[in-house]
Amino acid sequence: MSCSAGPLVDAFNRRITYLRLSVTDRCDLRCTYCMPERMQFLPRREVLSLEEMHRLGLAMIDRGIRKIRLTGGEPLVRRDVIELVQALGRRIGDGLEELTLTTNGTQLAAYADALFAAGVRRVNVSLDTLDPGLFFELSRRDQLAQVLEGIRAATAAGLKVKLNAVALKGLNQHELPDLIAWAHGHGHEVTLIEVMPLGEVEGERVDHYLPLTAVRDELERRWTLVDSPHRSGGPARYVDVAQTGGRLGFITPLTNNFCASCNRIRVTATGQLYACLGGAERVDLRTALRSDAPDLQLAAALDTAMAIKPERHHFAHARGAAPAQPRHMSLTGG
Ligand code: 5AD
Ligand code: SF4
Repeated sequence: MSCSAGPLVDAFNRRITYLRLSVTDRCDLRCTYCMPERMQFLPRREVLSLEEMHRLGLAMIDRGIRKIRLTGGEPLVRRDVIELVQALGRRIGDGLEELTLTTNGTQLAAYADALFAAGVRRVNVSLDTLDPGLFFELSRRDQLAQVLEGIRAATAAGLKVKLNAVALKGLNQHELPDLIAWAHGHGHEVTLIEVMPLGEVEGERVDHYLPLTAVRDELERRWTLVDSPHRSGGPARYVDVAQTGGRLGFITPLTNNFCASCNRIRVTATGQLYACLGGAERVDLRTALRSDAPDLQLAAALDTAMAIKPERHHFAHARGAAPAQPRHMSLTGG
């Protein structure tokens, strides 16, 4: 049993309390910066069962994980995923402080009430544009209306919805102020993200890489941005927009490194624990889960993860070069 094993602290004395668990690498969208149109998804037998994911989550909670975010791919395209949400949700207030979800929103309308009933209170919805044509260009699918309906339904169900938008030069760049104004007008926080070199895609991401320092300059021509002391325990840094009364976050893995305060680990749908989003360091939890002594093996694997978690990531965009990591965000979870 792993009870003798203590909290998760890495070699740089960072306390790890946050797990991002990718429940599937599949997705019903094909965002151009995320994956190629003909994405090769994992064979199903390689993916952990929902029971295995549940067991993994409980072992993590035993080791001091306080917040779990389910990601993907798109978590809501996994059949019966709500059972996992319900099972983990039973630990909210009993070891677990928060269970959240990152979703593209296309299926959210159908799941909003069930998520709330299972104890979920906040969801992050990825939304890069409010323009149907650009949405299609970016995601290769015509689903903006469903996403907006999903956001509406989630809000009506009592979920707090935060929007994540990847800032893309020459694509949604000029729409960002309108997107932010719309979100704030509807009571949603927005976080902007710099595009990261993860996995091969068709185009050159560097062509659309937009440093958020430039976005901030642009926004400051229109609005007053007041630095906020607010912290979410993650890499985002926040400002309050005086004119909209809303909060705006910036996630800047390229222009500004945030690793010193990293509190998280990521597990792929196949049970590979990645110690860092930008690194190759990993531990195989699936073998541990499927061994004769899963609790012991898992505890040992988690200790290894703490020993190998790197001090920081090293991202850079280089034209014609391979991505910093060959795996897509849809595998590791955003
Ligand atoms: N760089 C930055 N963000 C990405 N996402 C997916 N791929 C990338 C990438 N290469 C985003 C999605 C979503 C979040 C989970 O990650 O748009 O908002
Ligand atoms: Fe799907 Fe999210 Fe990747 Fe878009 S960014 S293809 S919604 S996993």
